[in-house]
Formats: sequence, structure tokens, C-alpha cells
Amino acid sequence: MSQAEKLALVRGHLGAPWGGRPKPDGAIGSAGFVAGAPRLGVPALQETDAELGVANPGDIRRGDSATAMPSNLALAATWDEALARRQGEAVADEARARGFNLLLGGAVNLIRDPHGGRNFEYFSEDPLLSGVMAGAALAGAQSRHVLTTVKHFALNDQETDRSSLDVRIDPAAARESDLLAFEIAIERGHPGAVMCAYNRVNGVYACENRWLLDAVLKEDWRYPGFVMSDWGATHSTVAAALAGLDHESGAQLDAHEFFGPSLAQAVAEGRAPQARLDDMARRILTSIYAASLVDDPPRVGPADPAAGERTALDIEREGAVLLRNQGLLPLAVDVRRIVVIGGRADAGMLAGGGSSQVAPHGGVATTVQIDKDHAEVFDPSSPLMAIRRQFPRAQIVWDDGRNANQAAKVAAAAEVAIVFAVQWMTEGADAVGIALPGDQDRLIDVVARANPRTAVVLETGGPVAMPWLERTVAVIAAWYGGQRGGEAIAELLSGAVNPSGRLPVTFPASLVQLPRPAPMGDPRLDGAPNAADGRTIVAEYREGAQVGYKWFAARGERPLFPFGFGLSYTRFALDDLSVNVDGQRVRAQATVKNVGERAGAATPQFYIALPGGAGAAPRLVGWRRVELQPGEARTVSVTVDPRLLASFDEAARRWRVAAGTYALSAGFDVERRRLSAPVTTGAFDLPP
Ligand code: BGC
Repeated sequence: MSQAEKLALVRGHLGAPWGGRPKPDGAIGSAGFVAGAPRLGVPALQETDAELGVANPGDIRRGDSATAMPSNLALAATWDEALARRQGEAVADEARARGFNLLLGGAVNLIRDPHGGRNFEYFSEDPLLSGVMAGAALAGAQSRHVLTTVKHFALNDQETDRSSLDVRIDPAAARESDLLAFEIAIERGHPGAVMCAYNRVNGVYACENRWLLDAVLKEDWRYPGFVMSDWGATHSTVAAALAGLDHESGAQLDAHEFFGPSLAQAVAEGRAPQARLDDMARRILTSIYAASLVDDPPRVGPADPAAGERTALDIEREGAVLLRNQGLLPLAVDVRRIVVIGGRADAGMLAGGGSSQVAPHGGVATTVQIDKDHAEVFDPSSPLMAIRRQFPRAQIVWDDGRNANQAAKVAAAAEVAIVFAVQWMTEGADAVGIALPGDQDRLIDVVARANPRTAVVLETGGPVAMPWLERTVAVIAAWYGGQRGGEAIAELLSGAVNPSGRLPVTFPASLVQLPRPAPMGDPRLDGAPNAADGRTIVAEYREGAQVGYKWFAARGERPLFPFGFGLSYTRFALDDLSVNVDGQRVRAQATVKNVGERAGAATPQFYIALPGGAGAAPRLVGWRRVELQPGEARTVSVTVDPRLLASFDEAARRWRVAAGTYALSAGFDVERRRLSAPVTTGAFDLPP
């Protein structure tokens, strides 16, 4: 490989016109493009955003649509690994059919904070759940012979000032939380690339952070693939190269094309060793060949839209979480008059904004302008229409909810009122609070006062407050439901589908319960930096590894809805917890039974608390999602990853398990753990 060929591999460009220049020769049109090395048969990298479907930014591929999947939060709420795998396969099939061979998916940052603008792209607040579900999606995608990323490495948990924010965290706590999610996702999904993040970590930009890229990822985890920067996240040539960055993405967005002529010169002058450039190129090539991009290049042709859409539908069916049900749901078959109110339920289901946004099959249903640069976009799956189909004999009335008093009047005359409420979230901005935007809380409140049989369907980017909760009789967290979401919601309302989603995030009762009651800095939609004078905003992660439910447990706080929670139209019982310890291997099993009258899916969860008294927060160590007929029982078992018994010793770079008695527990959410059993182990340690 010539020096020029190596240098061409380590720098990528936007796959779109930029700065008055057309898109690069050979680019299909997308977020990124790398020319490859044609002389050697190394293919160009055609890179597309792909977390929630194949994106088409700015309609660069005129009129090209793809399946808009439900948010990753919805996918995580299924707790169904097989379904996550299917999601990855479906997105990869659609990407390959368009000629893409590199998928910018796998957003596995932990949800530390309900304000986070990209929470809908992320999976959960728990490292095991996030790592397993993201890993399954990545494995599914890579099985289709595309190269995937896992991103944004690491601790890019808020959007405000993301390009300068300095996240401060104890390194051991990072290893036990966000980094563990990445580690598990990488082990299971084998993504060919890791995308480093915009923010700083402990004072150093993630894309030139030697601790993150070299020590943790490449040395401790022995990661064989390459590190590519997020778009505009490279800040230096030599420092980044020496810290472990292998590839500069979207180079036009950087202050300077750091891995272009500057890198060539740095190598020529010995400021960056030739061996480092060789290693960068070797890593990129390793991933290209390992993902079979050469042996099995994408075949451009029609993709079956039905396959993707079936997967989207199944994710929303399994991922919507029934949070409250005072006997209203499923709605009686002979219900005669339903009023559907608000949330543009006549048109479609809300989607999140930013690079993950997909141009859905069938076209956008409607948009609602927020300011000159931002609009809420609705995917074409109208819940109203779907409800009409589910209840063909009922009269279904629509009210747009803009006038709360009018909506209340219509609701009073109906048997059941269903209010749809939306919270639009986007990459690039955080939410200012957890209240539903606009007048929606008041709308729900007055409707529920007018009709005691009021159900609420929430389409949100994450947890929101519910000041009206006690007045309503049913609440469904539908997240962003993707392009078949309306249909799934109607099926859940009618009971055609029995709800089985479980919360992958804690819903706080109040912001004061959180380690950071507000995002650091002042969230703004225009993305303008908070400190124009170049100062850096610091996010002090005082919760360390105690993210989400662990924080609540350690502080004795009661959330509005706990992690793992979700109702069903049937009931389940969990019994006979037993634990077996064999050296470093801990296995737990329990029997789950459907003791109600309908078929349904239960998700028994297993947790462990480290020795250390009352303050020791539980850690999720495993779960099983099982479908059970009425009366059916199944014994489920999990093997505990020993890292979940350990604390990380950063000085020694080892996981250390202390001798002692650990409390293993099982239940249907983190608060309802009725069963427990002690686990006694001797001390041992593990490599990082
Ligand atoms: C996002 C990445 C995305 C990239 C390319 C960035 O703004 O943070 O997640 O893959 O753009 O579109």
C-alpha cells in the first residue's frame, strides 16, 4: 500500500455537497464517504446513519425512503434480544440494497438524565440492558455483511454544548457504567468501528483521549477495529493520532482537515510515527475484510419494504409500556363512542430529530414547525385511523386538542377519551425540563376531569412528568413508535396485542431526585454554545456508576415508575428462586407462571447487590422475556457476568470481586423484587 493510499483511508468526507462543492465522486449521497483504494480492490466506504433506519439527510437521494423504526428506547423496552437482532438485520438489508456498506448505528450511551436530547436514540440507563440490546442489533446488522459502528465513545449523555462539554467522572465509575455498556455491545456485536464522541472526558476531547481510545479500548479490551471520529469531533493531528484516533470523519466539518496533508507532514517529520499510520490503515482494512465488504459487496436492488415494516410493527407492539391501568384496558369490544384527542394522532406518530431521522416509506405524515430550522416530523401511521380499524362498530370522534375546553366537552360526551401527548426531542438540544411541552398537561387534566375514563398515550423521547396521573385510568408509554406505531397502539388498546414492554429508564417523580436536576448549561435549540468566551461547561457526574435506578436505590428515592416496570392484561407469579455458585460462575433460576386469563409475555429480572450494607444499589444481572399461555409456567435461568459482581480497580486495571455474601434477587421490576437468595463467593479478579 502506498503512503497516499494509507492516507486516503484515514480521512473521510461528507457524502453530500458541502461548501459549494458537489458530493465526492462515487458517493451515493449520505453522511459519509471514504474513497478506498481501487488499485488494491479496497472498496469505498459508503456510510449512512442507520440506528433507526437508513437515513436520507436533506433528501440527498431524491425521494428515497426507508423503514422508520421505533426509537431505540422502544427497542430496549422490549427486552427482546431476538427482536433487536431482527432490527439490525432489517436496517442492514435496506442499507445494502442502496449500496451502503458502513452503518453508523449502535448508539449505546447510557441515559443518565431525562433531559438528554438523544435519549430516544440510546437504549437504557443500565449497562447490561444497553450492551445486550445494542450488541444484538449490531450482530444482526453485521451478519448481513456491513461494517457497523458503536457510538458515541464515550459519555456523550447530554447535547447542550456537546462540542466543548467536559464530563468529569471517576474512571473506575466510568468502567462500571457507560464503558461497560460499550464493552458488552462490542463483545456481542463485533462492530468494525468505534465512533468517538464530541465531548471531553476528564478534561480531554474524546477523540484525542489516550485513556479512552488506547488504554481502555485498544489495550484493555483488545479491540481490533478502528476508531473513527464523530462528524466535527476531531481537534488535532498529532495528539489525536497518538491517542488512538484512526480515522477522521466528515473532515470538511473540522476546523482544519487534520488527517489530510497535516498528517502526511507529521509522519514525514517523525512527529507521528510511520508505524502509527500503518496501524491506522491496518485496523481499517481489518474491519473491512472482517465484515466481508470485499467478499460480499452490497448488491443494489429493491429491498422488500414489508420485511422492515413488520419488524418496526413488532418492536412497537412489544416495546410500548402499559404504565397504568385501572380496569379500562383492553377497551371493551362493544365500546360505542371513543374520542381521540391531540398529539396529531389523526396524522401519524412523532419521530425524533437529528441525524438518525429517517424519511419514512409513504412519506412524512405531517410536520409542525417549531422555529425556522426545526420541525416536529410525524411518521405515516395514524393512531386515529388504526383505532377506527380496530373498533369498526364504534363511533370514533377526533379532536385536535388545541382548545382544551372544547376537547373536554367532546370527551364528556364519549364513553372513553384517549389523549395523545407528544414531546419532541432532537439531537443537538436537550429538553428544558420533564414536563410535556405546551399546554398538554392542562389538556389531559381538563379532559380527565370531564371524562373519568381517560387514557393517555405518551409519544416522548424519554421520561416525562405526569401531574395528572391519578385522574387518568390508563397510560401507555409509546416512545417514538416508528412507521407502524399507530397500528401497534390500536392493537394494544383493543387487546389484540397484550402489552409486554418494560421500562428501560426510571421515570422520576420530580427533578430534584436526580443527580443533575437540570442539564449543565442552558439548553438551546439553536445549538449556540453557552460560553461564547471559549470557557468550557463542566458536567460533574457525582452519581458515578450509580445511574438511574441505582441512584434512586442508593438514595432511598421513590420514582414515579421504576426501572423494569410494565403492566400486562394478564398476571404473572414468580417463585422458586435458586442460585448455584460454581467457582466464578453464578447461575440463578426461577419459575414464572401466567396466573391470569390471557396469553402474555413476562420479563422476570434478576438483580444483585454487592456486600456493603443498605446503601449497596442493586445491579441488573439478567432477564428472560417469556411468552406464556394462561396457566403455563416456565423455569428461566440466567448466568451472571462476573463483572457485575465486581468493582473496577483503575490503578491495577482489573475487575475485583470481593469475598462475601451478595444478595441476589428476582422480580418484575427493580422495586418489586420479592424473591432473594444469598450468594457467597471468595475473592477473585478478572482482566479488564
Ligand atoms: C452524530 C452521529 C452521526 C453523524 C453522521 C453526528 O452529528 O453525532 O451520530 O452518525 O453525525 O451523520
